Amino acid sequence: MTKKWNWGILGCGSIAEKFSSDLKTLPNANLYACASRSKSKAAKFAEKFTYAKSYGSYSELVADPLVDIIYIATPHSHHMEHTLLCLNNGKAVLCEKAFAINSKQSDKMIQTAKKQGVFLMEAFWTRFQPAFLKVKDILENKVLGETKMIRSDFAFNGPFDPENRLYNLDLGGGSLLDIGIYPVFAALQAFGRPDEIKTVAQFSSTGSEESIAILFKYDNGHIASLQSSFAVHSDTQSEYWCENGFVRIKMQGIGSTKVEIWNSNNKSEELEFNYPETHGYHLEAMHVMDCMNENLTESPLLPLSFSALLMETLDRIRDDSGIKFPADKT
Ligand SMILES: NC(=O)c1ccc[n+]([C@@H]2O[C@H](COP(=O)([O-])OP(=O)(O)OC[C@H]3O[C@@H](n4cnc5c(N)ncnc54)[C@H](OP(=O)(O)O)[C@@H]3O)[C@@H](O)[C@H]2O)c1
Repeated sequence: MTKKWNWGILGCGSIAEKFSSDLKTLPNANLYACASRSKSKAAKFAEKFTYAKSYGSYSELVADPLVDIIYIATPHSHHMEHTLLCLNNGKAVLCEKAFAINSKQSDKMIQTAKKQGVFLMEAFWTRFQPAFLKVKDILENKVLGETKMIRSDFAFNGPFDPENRLYNLDLGGGSLLDIGIYPVFAALQAFGRPDEIKTVAQFSSTGSEESIAILFKYDNGHIASLQSSFAVHSDTQSEYWCENGFVRIKMQGIGSTKVEIWNSNNKSEELEFNYPETHGYHLEAMHVMDCMNENLTESPLLPLSFSALLMETLDRIRDDSGIKFPADKT
């Protein structure tokens, strides 16, 4: 019989809501407990998504012996603290992106997971989307020849609020760690570690980065051009330019992604990937439970070495563009 895994939610904010509604669709996931800094908020969240237990502190959640896997849905600034809390109490962790504020923090998380022999994975949900897998397959099999250039963006106009995690430096504010991470992910997955990085950034009045343009250069001649912003809206798409055509992957909204495959004669094929029942977060949760069923301590599809590379690349981008967080000093 398939084991049912007891999930715990740490932080009852916006993404925790979407994740919980997706988790409910999985037969081997038990929505067991949720925890908030506020007892009443946790109780309301539990009622809405039918969690059996609710806790008014994160420490009570990790102390519950029946919790198997904890999904960390707090701001990036708190991912290390909360991941360590879970791992040191023997709980498997699926931690939201960005994995941490910097490599120093993510290295500590990875070392702790290895030391404790406990499962840890970054919740980089797009890695598990069929649209992404389709593009990966086209590129790896050189269906359109070699991929030589990438152009990728993610932008939305986020109303300015100095307290909000999007602009608050204490909470890791700025477009890079929140949404610029997706274009960076796209380039790293296809081309690996860049040899050279150049950036320009625009900052908000809190000192948080509001818009950024990034160039990756590779010694083999490959180039990636990546952008993110909280000041404008963009198409939120990635294009992979190959010798004999190009592939475009475009987020169409919640649970829907389009892939266009264009050859050099301007003939195109269009594929749509839709999840009418979910936001698409159920796939990462399914993968975590598959790993747990096999007693793995990290994902073979999204290994901790990739999260370390992603964080190191974000550090290099920040160094070049002057993005600083108070947490860097600790
Ligand atoms: N995968 C995706 O598609 C996706 C989408 C959006 C966000 N995210 C990621 O998910 C994380 C959370 O984003 P969100 O949009 O859900 O944020 P949010 O709505 O602000 O929720 C964050 C939650 O974290 C908890 N928290 C703990 N310490 C906090 C502090 N000092 N200040 C503020 N909140 C604190 C709060 O929960 P309690 O009050 O219940 O304790 C809060 O509700 C971020 O790292 C973000 O990058 C991922």
